[in-house]
Amino acid sequence: MLDLDLGALERAGRERYAIGAFQTYNLETTLAVCRAAEALRSPVLLQAGSSAFRVAGRSELIGLALAAAEAADAPVGVHLDHCRDLEEIRLCLDAGYTSVMIDGSGLPFEENVSLTRAATQAAHAAGVWIEGELGGIAGDEDVSTGAPAGAAMTDPKAAAEFVSRTGVDVLAVAIGNVHGFTPEPVRLDFTRLAAIGDEAGVPLVLHGASGLPAADISHAISLGVVKINVNAELRRGIFAELETAAPECAKGYDLASLSRRSAEAGQRVVEAKLREFGSAGRAGGPAHDDHPRRTHA
Ligand code: 13P
Repeated sequence: MLDLDLGALERAGRERYAIGAFQTYNLETTLAVCRAAEALRSPVLLQAGSSAFRVAGRSELIGLALAAAEAADAPVGVHLDHCRDLEEIRLCLDAGYTSVMIDGSGLPFEENVSLTRAATQAAHAAGVWIEGELGGIAGDEDVSTGAPAGAAMTDPKAAAEFVSRTGVDVLAVAIGNVHGFTPEPVRLDFTRLAAIGDEAGVPLVLHGASGLPAADISHAISLGVVKINVNAELRRGIFAELETAAPECAKGYDLASLSRRSAEAGQRVVEAKLREFGSAGRAGGPAHDDHPRRTHA
């Protein structure tokens, strides 16, 4: 069902687990996320857009994500990731998104505050929660560029001011995290994360979680991270499957099997992450792990 409200994030914070948020570009990634949530009885966030709209088409991807979330037998929120455009935020709110992110992190502080405040008003008027960002997260959201860490870190005192002036419900932090895989292991600044949590007083979001060791994930959750974004690992899992699936399916031009194998490979990655984040079983009801897959109409 289409459902992931702020209460779900607050519950995650209290019970010390995190909600996984995964990018979707197409049918296969959408099914991967929804089926993993169903199989493990886990809440999940399907991040449809903003950058993926360029490829899939905005109304097409919005429609796909919302329809799949509604049909899912688990709580699936549809979230707008890294949006820099108020009009697009309004459009997604009107369409029925359960949450949005406004990313003014590339702007000077005052401009980030005013853009984020305007987006917060729109989100709250629509009855949904909003994520803001302060500090810069290195790397590319859609392509693993091997970028090193080094973008501007989130300042804890500035984070407190940002949250109180904008009214955002959750805050994306820059603590050394990077979008995509990195040439050297990422070293997260947990002292800074703890200080941001203390000062900002809102649940926190960790972007760029691909490639992070499980110990870093649980440490981040223990310090107030309730939403964890994963994209590159999901893409990598699908590409690994395609190495064998593509030549095999190509023999009969079997697009249906190629699509199914892509979705299944993605689902395996998402399931592993949901277990790691501690959200498996939090949706209630029995896990479908050992059951035959539900057939989707
Ligand atoms: P990764 O690609 O590193 O998993 O980051 C995803 C992300 O943070 C999307 O906003």
